[in-house]
Amino acid sequence: MNASTNSNIQFKHYLETSKVKGLAIPAGLQQLLLAVADTCTTLSHEVAQGALIGLLGSAGTGNVQGEVQQKLDIIANDLLIEGVQACKSLAGLASEEMELPVAVQGTGDYLLLFDPLDGSSNIDVNVSIGTIFSILKKQDPTAPLQTADFLLSGRHQVAAGYVVYGPQTTMALTLGDGVVMFTLNKDTGQFVLIKHAVQISPATKEFAINMSNMRHWAEPVRRYVEECLAGVSGERDKDFNMRWIASMVADVHRVLSRGGIFMYPWDQREPHKPGKLRLMYEANPMSFLVEQAGGASTNGEQLIMDLQPSDLHERVSVMLGSKDEIERLQRYHAKV
Ligand code: AHG
Ligand code: MN
Ligand code: MN
Ligand code: MN
Repeated sequence: MNASTNSNIQFKHYLETSKVKGLAIPAGLQQLLLAVADTCTTLSHEVAQGALIGLLGSAGTGNVQGEVQQKLDIIANDLLIEGVQACKSLAGLASEEMELPVAVQGTGDYLLLFDPLDGSSNIDVNVSIGTIFSILKKQDPTAPLQTADFLLSGRHQVAAGYVVYGPQTTMALTLGDGVVMFTLNKDTGQFVLIKHAVQISPATKEFAINMSNMRHWAEPVRRYVEECLAGVSGERDKDFNMRWIASMVADVHRVLSRGGIFMYPWDQREPHKPGKLRLMYEANPMSFLVEQAGGASTNGEQLIMDLQPSDLHERVSVMLGSKDEIERLQRYHAKV
């Protein structure tokens, strides 16, 4: 199955007939979203083959993040470029796996940013992974593409979403007017709408963080997590459950599906870096989805989507999900 010949007819119909804040979705944005959906349909099939087609393991190369690239990181990156580069509405794209943005021959002004394969450490152990994408609009459509065109705050996103390759292949999407979810029918190759108006409960009893980093966290995070661990025997009026999948896309999908809080905060292992996760193609798209679903997303001091980026691959401390818990964390960071 390849992206070009198996277009997602049902998803296309959804885009053609939906309204965003009462307005039709611009045709150029529809075209780009359909190309992403088609590519992720192909990627879903590739991911499901794994070892059968030699997809597992390292590619033996490194990326701008200083990470060892997995074969699937590169395959996903190449498939996405191939899948969208013919979009007339696209001006350029940027990826976790490429140091610089790529100009495409499109005459449009959309900018696509993506984490082609999130959760790479889970590829070889058959745990859910995914693709995260964010769409911006070039502010000056006439000038030649440059990196600075991408350095817009998360508030400028016109669309964001992810496709999680798990037991189901499910897409979450926001265009700024709520969150919808589609599951891929693998018999027909169609993304089918399964949820609209996704909402995150403000209260939760579930937190997600990599506990092995506890001794490295800043005090407000340690205080928050220690209180969650203590539950009713401590400051909180409930006991908490913990999850950590180590694929942001899967952890955030759980938060969107049943509430919760996801944290990858700054820690002192690399004190000069604000965090591990990347602002432009991980934190911003996920924050857009979470805010549109009634949740909140902060770096402790500011809402993530308010941050003004200065580098395409800059990192950020991330705490997102159920609003009551995020507000508590913000209070702890403000020391009130
Ligand atoms: P990526 O695979 O795109 O590099 O991102 C991995 C990220 C994110 O998906 C996940 O939440 C986090 O790394 C897990 O980090 P740890 O392995 O340190 O827990
Ligand atoms: Mn990576
Ligand atoms: Mn990632
Ligand atoms: Mn990645």
